[in-house]
Amino acid sequence: MNRRDFLKRIIKSALALLGLSFLLSLIYIYPAKIKKKGMKLVHAFDEEELPRRGVKRVDFSYEYGNRTINTLAFIVMAKEGFIALSPVCSHLGCLVNWDRNKGEFLCPCHGGRYDMEGRVIGGPPPAPLTRLPLEIKEGKVFIGIKV
Ligand code: FES
Repeated sequence: MNRRDFLKRIIKSALALLGLSFLLSLIYIYPAKIKKKGMKLVHAFDEEELPRRGVKRVDFSYEYGNRTINTLAFIVMAKEGFIALSPVCSHLGCLVNWDRNKGEFLCPCHGGRYDMEGRVIGGPPPAPLTRLPLEIKEGKVFIGIKV
């Protein structure tokens, strides 16, 4: 091996080490974005509290690590059965409210409007409200949350 080849190897090794350390520092700095989020079904309320028609807001909480997380969802008696909708507006993430008189979800931030099943009917939201997994088992209603 001559001197030129030796220097090339040294430079390639140094670049490989630099790239590897950069990658490891990215993983260290942004672990949440790299870690795949999972879905967890949590008991939100009992089956007897399901709405007979229309929309019902349900506030519930669940344990995450050693913390209690309070959250909410909207349960809708839709054509295909019960669905659970996230209250998070697809525009910039404000929480929508159900307006019973208008029969719409309204976003207080920029006037986004959604129909009863979460489809956009007005304003800037680019996508419908997110449907959350919903399961009914043994008299209990479970809603899927990202953990
Ligand atoms: S955040 Fe809902 S319309 Fe902008």
